[in-house]
Amino acid sequence: MKMLMLFAALCGLAMATPFDQAAYMLQETAPMGLVDELTALGYTKLVGLIEMAGLKDTLNTGGPFTIFAPNDDAIAVLTPDMMNNMTLLVNILKAHVIEGKVMTTMIRDNLMAGSLLKGVQIRINMNVGWQRTYIAANGAQIIMFDKEAKNGVIHGMNRVIYPIPMGSLVDAMKMIPGLSATMKLIEFAGIESALTGEGPFTIFAPCNNAWMKIPYANVTALMANKTALTELLTYHVAPGAWYSTVMRPGTVIPTLEGKNVLFNPMTPEHLRDVKPMPVYLYVNDAEVILADQSVANGVIWVLNDVITKPSYLPK
Ligand SMILES: *[C@@H]1O[C@H](CO)[C@@H](O)[C@H](O)[C@H]1NC(C)=O
Ligand SMILES: *[C@@H]1O[C@H](CO)[C@@H](O)[C@H](O)[C@H]1NC(C)=O
Ligand SMILES: *[C@@H]1O[C@H](CO)[C@@H](O)[C@H](O)[C@H]1NC(C)=O
Repeated sequence: MKMLMLFAALCGLAMATPFDQAAYMLQETAPMGLVDELTALGYTKLVGLIEMAGLKDTLNTGGPFTIFAPNDDAIAVLTPDMMNNMTLLVNILKAHVIEGKVMTTMIRDNLMAGSLLKGVQIRINMNVGWQRTYIAANGAQIIMFDKEAKNGVIHGMNRVIYPIPMGSLVDAMKMIPGLSATMKLIEFAGIESALTGEGPFTIFAPCNNAWMKIPYANVTALMANKTALTELLTYHVAPGAWYSTVMRPGTVIPTLEGKNVLFNPMTPEHLRDVKPMPVYLYVNDAEVILADQSVANGVIWVLNDVITKPSYLPK
């Protein structure tokens, strides 16, 4: 899982190709339906799944639709179990399609668009950098823009949107057994309601193992002082939807508590001689186990450490 994430993160850093004007100009006006266009563009695995799910006619002739299309490499993360569950397969595919034709020029940051799966929205983020612009749908980076078809448009991605973003941060965290300690502390501090609002919020949630690393006396002290506990917990929550896939290393993220955390990808000391050097993701000095899990009102990251406030960080 770590390597997969790492790979995704590295791709995110290296492969941004926004607004490929040249490719766009060369493309002839497309007379084909969306699914035929996907085939022409080489999205064969996705097309196979669309056919299996019985969605080919709808997507090829209905609409107009915008399809966020995972490429063949991205589809590889779907297990046979997932693909053989027809309900799940149809849901996953519908969660990649929105009504209407949304060109990237119409996108603004945090655009929410209802998908064909009832109650599920796609969150589109746009991160304008100095040299490049990143666009992502639920954290899946768009690497091929604005391929027009007769009944809509296709944006190609290097990731699948999965898990399907449903429920609030609190709903989702309650389903993740490894986050039970963080969840209990959030309830104890009485700040649950801060995470059920419209958001979006990003929570950097320490897993249970992270709390085990804190001396018992410190945890006891936190339980005895709700102000201190609330300060620590809100230092782990940032307003906004933050995705590692579209964030530059060194990005400073303001938290609800008021101070900043640092998005800090690096190679741990003992791995610096390994070639190629592996890069791990950190928030300050806390190791990220899992990033970019979308829910309806935000994003969940899971950390292997509680985030401490190092002195080197700007206020
Ligand atoms: C298939 O997926 C649906 C939707 O996620 C789920 O509710 C159901 O339990 C799954 N069925 C099996 C047999 O795993
Ligand atoms: C535990 O508490 C002590 C005393 O307040 C403090 O010096 C130390 O940094 C704390 N340790 C952690 C891991 O938070
Ligand atoms: C509780 O924590 C706050 C914030 O860290 C601190 O200012 C306050 O002195 C603490 N209260 C007690 C009784 O230790």
